[in-house]
Amino acid sequence: MTFEPQVPDWGEQLVGDNLDQLIIYHDWLCNTGIKTGLISPKSKQFVWDEFVVHSLYFGKILSELPDEFDVVSDLGTGGGIPGIPIGITTNFTVNLIDVKEKRIFELSRLIKILNNNNIFAIQDDGYNHIKKGGFLVSRCFISSEKVINSLKTDKNTTYLVSSNGEDLEYDSNMFHVKHENFKINKDDIRHIDVINVK
Ligand SMILES: C[S@@+](CC[C@H](N)C(=O)[O-])C[C@H]1O[C@@H](n2cnc3c(N)ncnc32)[C@H](O)[C@@H]1O
Repeated sequence: MTFEPQVPDWGEQLVGDNLDQLIIYHDWLCNTGIKTGLISPKSKQFVWDEFVVHSLYFGKILSELPDEFDVVSDLGTGGGIPGIPIGITTNFTVNLIDVKEKRIFELSRLIKILNNNNIFAIQDDGYNHIKKGGFLVSRCFISSEKVINSLKTDKNTTYLVSSNGEDLEYDSNMFHVKHENFKINKDDIRHIDVINVK
């Protein structure tokens, strides 16, 4: 099957002139990412749709938030998902946080390849950042339920978490949760919960 780096309508403006950088990242995931075990072997189209396009929607939500902020932390980033596409397509400073040294080593090399100066790879426990609060994103690292149970309610926090689209139980006096649904290609819908401490 031929690989097509398609961008859904919702992502065209966000991607702008950065398609080439996203394709360099996609190549890196398909080669170095798979070789070094950052992601498991997948087809080129799967890597594009599920990792690159899915990540773009996190950036879209962040860039449309009414709040003023500069720094976003991607907790449990693995192969830089969603943090690398966010860093490529927005002006936010993006901290890629992972507990594993090997992942941070490979991501630091990738950031040099991309010649990017707003993305940083940091070895740390993601839960330290959840305690501190701020603007956080995670894909396939933590469930929305666990986020609700881990966030400190005295810290200003907005946390975008990939979800399965299921309803979430939470105290609406303490949190606000918005479920976002979007297509990553012409058939497949994905979900992100936008969780705010009130
Ligand atoms: C399932 S992978 C998801 C990676 C990536 N976000 C994605 O969507 O493909 C989970 C990642 O979380 C990292 N991780 C596990 N526990 C962690 C912790 N306490 N703090 C930071 N990273 C952690 C793992 O090393 C791994 O890279």
